[in-house]
Amino acid sequence: MLDNTVCLKIDARYRRITPLTTNPVRLALAILWLTPTQLHAGEVVDSTTAPSSREQPGHPESAPLSFPRRPSTPPTLTTHLPHLLQVRASVYSGGTPVGRQGFAALQRLGVRTIVSVDGAKPRIDLATQFGLRYIHIPIGYDGITDSQKSTLGAVFTRCRPPYYFHCHHGKHRGPAALAAALCTAGTMTLAQANDYLQLAGVSRGYQGLWNAVADASKRPPLPTAQPLIPMTSVSTMVAAMAAIDPIYDNLKLLKKNNWQAAPDQPDVTSAHQSLMLLELLKELPRTIAADQFKKPLFLTALSATTDHAARLQRELRKSDWASASKSFEKIRLSCVDCHADFRN
Ligand code: HEC
Repeated sequence: MLDNTVCLKIDARYRRITPLTTNPVRLALAILWLTPTQLHAGEVVDSTTAPSSREQPGHPESAPLSFPRRPSTPPTLTTHLPHLLQVRASVYSGGTPVGRQGFAALQRLGVRTIVSVDGAKPRIDLATQFGLRYIHIPIGYDGITDSQKSTLGAVFTRCRPPYYFHCHHGKHRGPAALAAALCTAGTMTLAQANDYLQLAGVSRGYQGLWNAVADASKRPPLPTAQPLIPMTSVSTMVAAMAAIDPIYDNLKLLKKNNWQAAPDQPDVTSAHQSLMLLELLKELPRTIAADQFKKPLFLTALSATTDHAARLQRELRKSDWASASKSFEKIRLSCVDCHADFRN
């Protein structure tokens, strides 16, 4: 008798499962034999979900397209989904959806499940309004644990496609987490993963992320998936940093605009943003819980950044734009230095 393994051909590239037998008994045996992960290899997902039309054989999307690619969506979609990349017919990566339009854009793409690997609180309220399910699996820049890899991989078998994986900017952790998830699910080779990470722009400085993906492709992590939940609690440090990040981004844009508010965002002023940055940095030493961040070296680095932020705030109040730009550059360098020493 034929081994069950030859009864079904799983073709990840074409994203469908092709029966190689018409014998109903053999076919049933072969389907029973497949594990959920292997089923995913053909992107037949979640027993409660019928594959969407784009995954049906014969649909143009199931032709051997070259993935990953920048989807040819209207620019309005990509404005609200930074660094959007299509990695499979029904799998995307990018940055945090920007406002309501970001979630509307995901809905227009047909996305059903959003996976955030960022420390910031997911906007579950907006996701719900657009009928999208949020899964929160925050990861650091220094790597992805086995348990996180399993949990990421489990998304494909437990949640409905299409999927959108994001971090904050969509450049480093999001693509790395998605590549690890696809490798864990057995649908991406290391060579494909490396191409994708390169296209996404994952910095070589985040070696922990590259290693995590390489590991996931070589060795399936132990099946220790955590429950898939819409919001996971994060440490005070991660929460503070996740709050600092968008403010820092706003300041970066304001600096480009000679520290003047953009006409479409009159409330985002340099005075207010610099004050918020200063407050968050000042508050941090009082809320740090982890011992590793209570050490003098770390606290000295933090207080240097706080001093630069205080100076920036004063200079902006005095409309001293040239000095403010210099102080902002010092802040940027201190973010980079501290991350190199204590985070990456
Ligand atoms: C004194 C050290 C220090 C400084 C200064 C610092 N950071 Fe961090 N940052 C960290 C550490 C440590 C982590 C990792 C925390 C963890 O994973 O436990 C981190 C994490 C982050 C994260 C990831 C949060 C997440 O989602 O997991 C972002 C984003 C970030 N920092 C942005 C910034 C920005 C922007 C600046 C500059 C304005 C900055 N940081 C300044 C130490 C610092």
